[in-house]
Amino acid sequence: MRFRHHLFICENRRPEGAPKGSCAARGGEAVRAAFKNELLKRGLNEEIRANSAGCLDLCEQGPVVVVYPEGAWYVGVRPEDVAEIVEQHLVGGRPVERLLARTFGPLQK
Ligand code: FES
Repeated sequence: MRFRHHLFICENRRPEGAPKGSCAARGGEAVRAAFKNELLKRGLNEEIRANSAGCLDLCEQGPVVVVYPEGAWYVGVRPEDVAEIVEQHLVGGRPVERLLARTFGPLQK
């Protein structure tokens, strides 16, 4: 099975009070659930995979979602953003610029 898009969604959880915080504490589990629901609703779940991931090392900016094959890093993703990412990026091919991490510079086209 080869997926058209593969999403890695950080669900790492650190103990309460940990200095970096964690994506799970910021809502990463709800974000992954929202992706799974949205993909299923649109019948895209066979071609686009939303996997749980461990720490992706942008903890302070979480929840973090990485989309391959583009290597697009989304940060601060909320469940309310998921439909937009699916529609605009995964279906339409245009990443949602306002949610992209600035850490790695512009996306390679
Ligand atoms: S805890 Fe999610 S990137 Fe580190």
